[in-house]
Amino acid sequence: METQAMQVAIIGTGYVGLTTGVCLAHLGAHVICCDVDERKVTLLKNGVVPIVEDGLAEVMQGAIDAGRLSFVVGNDPAVRTADVVFLCVPTPQDEDGSADLSYVRAAATEIGPILKPGAVVVNKSTVPVGSFGVVGETLDRDDVSVVSNPEFLREGTALHDFLNPDRVVIGSDDERAAQMVAALYAGLDTQFVFTDPTSAELIKYAANGFLAMKISFINSVAALCEHVGADIARVVEGIGSDRRIGSQFLQPGPGWGGSCFPKDSRALVSTAAQHGYDFSLMRGVIDINEQQYDRMVHKVMAAVGRDVSLDGVVVGALGLTFKAGTDDLRESPGLRVIDVLRARGATIQAYDPTTTGELNPIQRERLAGLNLKAGALDAAHGADVVVILTEWPEFTTLDLEKVASVMRGAAVVDCRNLLDGDLVRSAGLGYQGVGRS
Ligand code: NAD
Ligand code: UGA
Repeated sequence: METQAMQVAIIGTGYVGLTTGVCLAHLGAHVICCDVDERKVTLLKNGVVPIVEDGLAEVMQGAIDAGRLSFVVGNDPAVRTADVVFLCVPTPQDEDGSADLSYVRAAATEIGPILKPGAVVVNKSTVPVGSFGVVGETLDRDDVSVVSNPEFLREGTALHDFLNPDRVVIGSDDERAAQMVAALYAGLDTQFVFTDPTSAELIKYAANGFLAMKISFINSVAALCEHVGADIARVVEGIGSDRRIGSQFLQPGPGWGGSCFPKDSRALVSTAAQHGYDFSLMRGVIDINEQQYDRMVHKVMAAVGRDVSLDGVVVGALGLTFKAGTDDLRESPGLRVIDVLRARGATIQAYDPTTTGELNPIQRERLAGLNLKAGALDAAHGADVVVILTEWPEFTTLDLEKVASVMRGAAVVDCRNLLDGDLVRSAGLGYQGVGRS
């Protein structure tokens, strides 16, 4: 079937669902994006992208204007006419560390009876090995095929990543269904990895696990740099130029976070355990990451000369999201650090470029108790220590003399190695980076 003739329904219009819907419509399919969140759908119908994603609003408007993209509350009737239905619902972490499949099950239960004969259901949510079978059983339709098509986009660069993927993975036992899904991506210059559904599901977890491992590795090397007096930037340059290693995902920081690495790394350990394998390497990767948050807390304590309590200490926190370029606060390493600093008695005055306007309900809940400021200098005002937690580009051009003049104390802890330590020191401030000699 030609892409142009295909009707697509997207179940769940979040970071992945919205990007998928917008991009597939941009590539020629007719797409209806469905969500149970009325607030989100109302915004989208008015052409407003409810998340921070570079370039997405423009491409979305283009697809709407071309008559190929629309948004609805609920999945019926969009699913009844769809040739291909993408499941893009959440798969959060369950209490035991495994992936919670309840959203996937609920969506499959709902759409099973109303799918048109011969439809293809695509699992784009990140689901553990074997979930392909769970979706098939829940749909309970002999005439419907299930395909695993994991997504590798990063938040903040979602549009770019979707339209320029390193590969598109399609896992299916049904050749016709696999080709239908591949046709939706035909406009992309990429390679396809056709495989069985189990391998496709594992590819997704292995990719996220490997990337998390790279970061934990470099954070450990950064810790070693501090012990031996080496410079992590030079070490990264020296090892990253080896093409077998590669330079990406070797940026030391406050630990990895976000909506996926934390839950997916734990789910990988959990899947392995369920099948009788102790994935000790991955357990170590997670442990090292937990230690990294603590290491950042210790840097702040040392910077203000405290051992236990931070009573009376004012922290100017710069950056709240889990990384730059997104408004996503889920599992933000910066917030993990802030939580501990607060628990030890510190007062936090924080600035993030995505939290200066009206807060959405998630932001209101997660940021309760923080003194939110309108700019970086406001956050630094009266602070004993300024801590950089997210690598927003605007922090690289901070007026350091001004920062020094408004602070009560004179310490900067740069958890992202954004600043030039010598420049910070010449402004009269103390400087601590990560793995810098
Ligand atoms: P999200 O929370 O941003 O969006 C999920 C959406 O699904 C929400 O808008 C929610 O209202 C909606 N929803 C829930 N149940 C529904 C139902 N029954 N019918 C219709 N809509 C429903 O989630 P996300 O970040 O887009 O992640 C979705 C999946 O994609 C997860 O499995 C995640 O691991 C995976 N993934 C995420 C990313 C990422 O960068 N966020 C990247 C790759 C893969
Ligand atoms: C990550 C993967 O990169 C995507 O391929 C995947 O699709 C996605 O998870 C997912 O499954 O949801 P994302 O979470 O958006 O994407 O963000 P990343 O850019 O991977 O960053 C994750 C965390 O690692 C952030 O906290 C970031 O600051 C940190 N990080 C990243 C580092 O500390 N150092 C680096 O070199 C890279």
